[in-house]
Amino acid sequence: MPRFPVTATSATGLSDRVFSRLAARAKDHPGPVHPLHVGDTYLEPLEAARAEAQRTADHPRLHNYAPVQGQPELLDAIAAHLGRRGDQLVDRETIQVTSGATAGLSVVIEALLDPGDEVLLPAPFWPLIRGIINKRGARAVEVPFFDRIDDDDFDVEAALEAAVTEKTAAIYVNTPHNPTGRILPDTVVAAIAAVAERHDLWILSDEVYEELYFGGLPPTPVWARADYQDRCVAVHSVSKAYGLAGARVGWAHGPHAAMEAIRGVQTFSTYCAPKPMQLGAARALTDGAAWLAEARAAYDRAASTTAAKLGLRKPDGGTFVFFDVSARLREGEDTVGLLERCLEAGVLLTPGAASGKDYGSWVRLCFTSVPLDQLEDALDRLAPIVGRRL
Ligand SMILES: Cc1ncc(COP(=O)(O)O)c(C=O)c1O
Repeated sequence: MPRFPVTATSATGLSDRVFSRLAARAKDHPGPVHPLHVGDTYLEPLEAARAEAQRTADHPRLHNYAPVQGQPELLDAIAAHLGRRGDQLVDRETIQVTSGATAGLSVVIEALLDPGDEVLLPAPFWPLIRGIINKRGARAVEVPFFDRIDDDDFDVEAALEAAVTEKTAAIYVNTPHNPTGRILPDTVVAAIAAVAERHDLWILSDEVYEELYFGGLPPTPVWARADYQDRCVAVHSVSKAYGLAGARVGWAHGPHAAMEAIRGVQTFSTYCAPKPMQLGAARALTDGAAWLAEARAAYDRAASTTAAKLGLRKPDGGTFVFFDVSARLREGEDTVGLLERCLEAGVLLTPGAASGKDYGSWVRLCFTSVPLDQLEDALDRLAPIVGRRL
């Protein structure tokens, strides 16, 4: 039992150094370091969506609390967005604004799961999701997945089934995906739904990259499918699509009963998301189509450049590439040693172990955190260390 000076068991292993233990050392590095370890953007957001564009003169009581469910302007914008993306009317009551998707997933998991429950976590995965599950006292059950889906002998249902126990309560789905950049094909999405239905599981759909796809037409969101709808709670964000990560605005939506519980937990978590930035997010959603199209085109070019310079498959979407570097390790060297060499060359990357226990010899690179000329410089520095010869 934790007592002074012992901290909570559920906090054990949680750390703010998840993206790179090398980041602190980068400060001592002579010369510039390209920060390709954290998923962010070099683009400034749409002017009307920026913090400085929200003015008390235009919005009296701008700095008061917002309603728990969300600021009405933002709820309207989200309902319109979901209607467009899912090609269906979404009941406004089933939307809950959150402080970004990170807090959103935390609230959703607290509302739907009990301590001791297990969540199937297709791996590799976004580094924070494992900690968010652990923080609830639940258990993340890693299932090697995204790097196998093209293998002829990989059976999606069998892989998930093998990880199901009596305690399994949910499965986490993220497409477009951090870190692999994959968009899950229809057959895989359907297989996930079949397992969820067979075992009465919730589906937690992480939609933060929903707008970042490079193949032309937007993929159908999983939450809009008939085989997901009853059991899926989807979590979205303006962080990635609109370059508003610092705004901390996102939202969840799903079946009525789930949303009632989620709204309850939200009330006792952050109460509401920051009101000025909810107004900014509403402007991004209503007026940001051209900004988004330009950002998507720029990221698409960055994805192509990255894939070409490092000899990798071009990602389908998202902001990352994720690749195995075991063939590039020197005699007796581990991945940390290789990442140190990358830092010496002036580039920070994320160790693959942050994305799952089976990915210790992989690394993750974000291709949207610096402009294209800097990205090219970073890739030229990295290619001799981690590049593949196709
Ligand atoms: C898959 C995934 N989900 C959620 C988040 C968090 O989004 P937010 O900034 O809205 O908290 C990220 C951020 O990198 C992510 O990659």
